[in-house]
Amino acid sequence: MGKHRILSGIQPTGNLHLGNYLGAIRNWVQLQEEYDSFLFMADLHAITVPHDPAKLAEDTLNVAATYLACGIDPTKATIFVQSHISAHSELAWLFNCITPVNWLERMIQFKEKAVKQGENVSIGLFAYPVLQAADILLYEPDQVPVGEDQKQHIELTRDIAARLNFQYGSEEQPVLKVPEPLIQKAGARVMSLTDGTKKMSKSDPSELSRIDLLDSPELIQKKVKRCKTDPVRGLTFDDPERPECHNLLTLYMLLSGQSQATVAAECADMGWGQFKPLLTETLVASLGPIRETFLELTSDRTYLETVLREGREKAAAIANSTLTKVKDALGYARPF
Ligand code: TRP
Repeated sequence: MGKHRILSGIQPTGNLHLGNYLGAIRNWVQLQEEYDSFLFMADLHAITVPHDPAKLAEDTLNVAATYLACGIDPTKATIFVQSHISAHSELAWLFNCITPVNWLERMIQFKEKAVKQGENVSIGLFAYPVLQAADILLYEPDQVPVGEDQKQHIELTRDIAARLNFQYGSEEQPVLKVPEPLIQKAGARVMSLTDGTKKMSKSDPSELSRIDLLDSPELIQKKVKRCKTDPVRGLTFDDPERPECHNLLTLYMLLSGQSQATVAAECADMGWGQFKPLLTETLVASLGPIRETFLELTSDRTYLETVLREGREKAAAIANSTLTKVKDALGYARPF
C-alpha cells in the first residue's frame, strides 16, 4: 500500500512567525517522513482582503524559502504555488455553484474578517472557504493538518465533497474523496507576546507581539525583554490567571524539545530575570539556522525556482485529473 497523503498551505501575506512554525511547518517536517506531502503557498487566498501587488510575488517565494529553511524536503514533499495551477480557481467556481450561501454565512473566520473590512468585503472573502475546499479536494488527501481555527473550513470541505458525491456521483463511485482533519495539538497554539490570551498573529499592529522566523538575534532579545509578564515569582504552566506565563513556558518547552514536566521542574523557582535570557538563547539557537538557510535560498533563487517548477508539474498532473473527473460528473463536454 502507498503512503497516505496530506495537504496543507499558508497564505503568503508578510513574514511568517513563530506561530506558523510551531503550529504548522514544524509538524509538516515530521509528517513528511510518513506521508506523501503536498504543501503550497495560498496566494489566491492572499488577495481576499486588499493586498499590495508590489509584495505578492516576493512574499510567495519567501514562504517557499521558509518551508525549505525549516526543513521541508522537496524529495519528500511537493511544494507549489496555488496560482500556478489554474485547476484551483476552476474547481472553486464549480464548487461555488453547488454550495448553499447559508453554509458560508456561518463561517466564523468570514464574520471576523468581514467586520475588519467595513464596507469593502469582497465576494472572494465570502467564497474563501470554497477555494480552500478546491485546494484540498483536488489532491485527494487522506488528512489535512491544520490548526484548530481551520476546523470549520475542513468540515465545510467535507460537506461540499459529500454534496457533490450525492448529487453527481453514486455510492459505489464517489467523485471526490472525503478527507479527515488532522488538528494539531493545543500545545502548539502560540499566543501573543503582549497579550497571552490572544493568538500570535501577522495582523497584530504591534511588532512586539510576535517573533518572526527571520528576526535577528538582537531583535529576538529585544522582543523577549519587552514581552508581557507578571509580578509573581516562580513559573508555572497551570495557573489560568497567568496566560503569559503559560505561553512563554510552552515556547521554551517546544523549542528546547523537553517535556512539560521537565520544564515545570526546571522553572518552578525561577523569576523572569532568569527565565528571559534562557528563552532568548533557546529562540536564537532554534531560529538562527532557519534564518541563515533562508538568506542563502533567497540570495540565489535558482534552486528555489527549480523546486517550485518541479512541484508545479507534479501537483498539476494530479489536480487536472481530479478536475476532469468533476467536470465529467457535472456533464461537461470534453475539449475537442
Ligand atoms: N485558510 C488556511 C489558513 O489561513 C490556508 C489554506 C488555504 C489552507 N487553503 C488551504 C490550509 C488548504 C489547508 C488546506 O491557515
